[in-house]
Amino acid sequence: MLKRFNPFNKILSSLFKNRPYEEKNVLISDEDYFIRAIKFEDIKDLLSIEREVYAGELPWTKTAFLMELQAADPHLYLLIQKAGKTIGFIGCRIFDKDAHITNVAVLTEFQGQGIGSFLIGEIQQFALLNKCERLSLEVRISNKNAQRVYRKLGFTSSTIKPEYYTENKEDALEMILSLKEE
Ligand SMILES: CC(C)(COP(=O)(O)OP(=O)(O)OC[C@H]1O[C@@H](n2cnc3c(N)ncnc32)[C@H](O)[C@@H]1OP(=O)(O)O)[C@@H](O)C(=O)NCCC(=O)NCCS
Repeated sequence: MLKRFNPFNKILSSLFKNRPYEEKNVLISDEDYFIRAIKFEDIKDLLSIEREVYAGELPWTKTAFLMELQAADPHLYLLIQKAGKTIGFIGCRIFDKDAHITNVAVLTEFQGQGIGSFLIGEIQQFALLNKCERLSLEVRISNKNAQRVYRKLGFTSSTIKPEYYTENKEDALEMILSLKEE
């Protein structure tokens, strides 16, 4: 049966959609973590995570993070902490019906415990609230570890973007998770 249009529902859903992310404690693989939205003053911690996981390189500079946190498009940037220490983060920006995961990283010591998957799940909720039809991301063609995590979560390969990473001319694989009900 077709649902009757209810303006009250529309107002409620737009209020909910624009609500700031509520910080919370979460249990992942029987361990306690704290998750909240990223603030400007967190950027130095994000840069040090990048240095650790990308062997000293910084795929995103401080300016790149600052620009993303102030983007006009709807976006969500989250960090996760263990005992007050930031151990991972994720970001997403919405372009029309596409929620694009722009960056995700978990400190090596904390990888393989479900944290990355949990963060992607939070972004998926945000995408659904914003009526997105898909999640998308780019991953280095050589980054088989990340690709395996994404596939386990239901992402499939879409297109190859040649020489997407300019510093070493590496191709990117675009991966997509459809959020549309079959
Ligand atoms: C890619 C990355 C973000 C994934 O984060 P992660 O926390 O290691 O991911 P998960 O722990 O959720 O998944 C990794 C594995 O742990 C397993 N796992 C263990 N406990 C789990 C749990 N409780 N729940 C879900 N998965 C669990 C997953 O099944 C998965 O298994 P696999 O290795 O056989 O695929 C992380 O590896 C990373 O930061 N890599 C370096 C930076 C990077 O490459 N970023 C991506 C750029 S596109």
